[in-house]
Amino acid sequence: MSKKIIIAIDGFSSTGKSTIAKLLAKKYNYIYVDTGAMYRAVTLFAKQNNFVGKSFLDKENLVSSLNEISLTFQFNEKLGFAEMFLNGLNVEKEIRTLEISQLVSKVSAISAVRKKLVAEQQLMGEDSGIVMDGRDIGTVVFPGAELKLFMTASADKRATRRYKELIDRGDKVDFKDILFNVEERDRIDSTREDSPLLKANDAIEFDNSDMGITEQFERICALVDAKLSV
Ligand code: DC
Repeated sequence: MSKKIIIAIDGFSSTGKSTIAKLLAKKYNYIYVDTGAMYRAVTLFAKQNNFVGKSFLDKENLVSSLNEISLTFQFNEKLGFAEMFLNGLNVEKEIRTLEISQLVSKVSAISAVRKKLVAEQQLMGEDSGIVMDGRDIGTVVFPGAELKLFMTASADKRATRRYKELIDRGDKVDFKDILFNVEERDRIDSTREDSPLLKANDAIEFDNSDMGITEQFERICALVDAKLSV
């Protein structure tokens, strides 16, 4: 049987982690797991139940309801990637709004939330052959991953990409709100107590501010191939 590895991709928000991860999963026939989608789905659940809002967080009630949350991914052949389902409902569109982006860092700083999701992520990667992206994959979820990448890009470039994504799908948003959100999430995600966003010592850093997808993908495939050949 051919060798399978774990590819961990971490980095700041909107650095194109999921674009690269999807391409890698397709090329190597690996499972792709977008862990940000899982934190976003828990945030959507919290919002729907009034456990979180712009100026409040009811941590106690959210934590005691965590066992009511079932998260699953279902592969969509047409789209070519797995969509996020929350308690059996496809929430792929709802979890990508600016409102959820504004609440998600608060929810993902809660240790009990992280504990639940990390355990589920570790189960998904049990058999290797997986590309997982997030903030703590190379440091906490799979510290032994064979290949770890850490993606960065200037806040301005990242906000521009995010703005375009939201405008393209028909959302009405202001660029300055997107830029603020990108910077604010970086700040909260990097300074939280539990599993802050950190580059693992053995991760390879990719600043893609001025690098197109094709160049990045070629370079990363060369790294994967090198790992597969040892
Ligand atoms: O990758 P994303 O931008 O969709 O992630 C949304 C948020 O989820 C991010 O701001 C922080 C949180 N997150 C996390 O804390 N740990 C992960 N492994 C993935 C995401």
